[in-house]
Amino acid sequence: MDRNLALEFVRVTEAAAIAAARWIGRGEKKKADGVAVDEMRDRFNQIDFAGRIVIGEGRKDEAPELYVGERVGRGRGPMMDIAVDPLECTASVAFGRQNAMSVICSGPKGVLLSAPDTYMEKISAGPKAAKVIHLDASVKTNIEKVAKALGKKKGEIIVAVLDKPRHEEIIKNIREVGARIKLFSDGDISAAIATCLPGSGIDLLVGTGGSAEAVLSAPAVKALGGEIYCRFAPPDEKHRQLVKKANLNTRKVYSANDLAKGKTLTFTATGVIDGPLLKGVRFLGNKIITHSIVIRGESGTIRYIETHHHLSNKGSGCPLYYHMII
Ligand code: FBP
Repeated sequence: MDRNLALEFVRVTEAAAIAAARWIGRGEKKKADGVAVDEMRDRFNQIDFAGRIVIGEGRKDEAPELYVGERVGRGRGPMMDIAVDPLECTASVAFGRQNAMSVICSGPKGVLLSAPDTYMEKISAGPKAAKVIHLDASVKTNIEKVAKALGKKKGEIIVAVLDKPRHEEIIKNIREVGARIKLFSDGDISAAIATCLPGSGIDLLVGTGGSAEAVLSAPAVKALGGEIYCRFAPPDEKHRQLVKKANLNTRKVYSANDLAKGKTLTFTATGVIDGPLLKGVRFLGNKIITHSIVIRGESGTIRYIETHHHLSNKGSGCPLYYHMII
């Protein structure tokens, strides 16, 4: 994997995040997503690489841009598969809630699971608890094992759960065990990755979320030494057929390594609205500040990048004057 390319992608997520952040709270999900998609595609096509979208905005007949199978990049240089969510948490942006970001993962051909757009059951934990979690164990057992692995009391554990009616039972079970819960309306990519970051305040993620988000979480969770286990949970026959058509198995438990194979992977994300992983975009008159994370699987290097985009004398675009790598 070209080292510079991993960093090059941050310009792409920064541009998409800034564009989407202009739509915070304006009630326009499609517009917020649309501008992020346009920026991402435009910026990809300024980079020397030959990318193929394997997780994107949908199939070709559903999405005019960044559809599965679309080629991105200038077409010369390294060839790679790309998984994107130009705007993870569209509703959070439209309704001015928490936790939105723009995300890109990359890897050599075939390493990222080209999962159909449906749901997956998930459990994710960081390095110390990676080996003790099981998708089929009870919530109680998982919490007890994670607490032991982390050297914490059960009551100190925080379990992140998407705040959805389908999780009522899980939430009840967590409360019965006496662990604490972080409910969030959207965004289980950042929650899965946050389990790997000490100090994030999240020890465990459980529940059902998007399958694309499972794949997009995997390269970062892996590089950080954590684990994510998932299984397709198609809510109806139409979704079951999607999984079947993709020749995938609804009974199989997919590990992080099944979702994103090997080490030659990258994860790049820029915050749109504050979440457990990243701060959102800040507009400061003549400059815009963005916060990003870039992870290279091969080296395990994690870069937090705060970029100050100076706008003065440069029209309405967002030229990047300097990056601060923290
Ligand atoms: P979008 O990027 O499509 O807005 O997804 C946000 C999200 O919260 C994901 O993080 C999560 O995996 C999924 O939606 C859960 O789906 P649903 O909101 O349908 O329960």
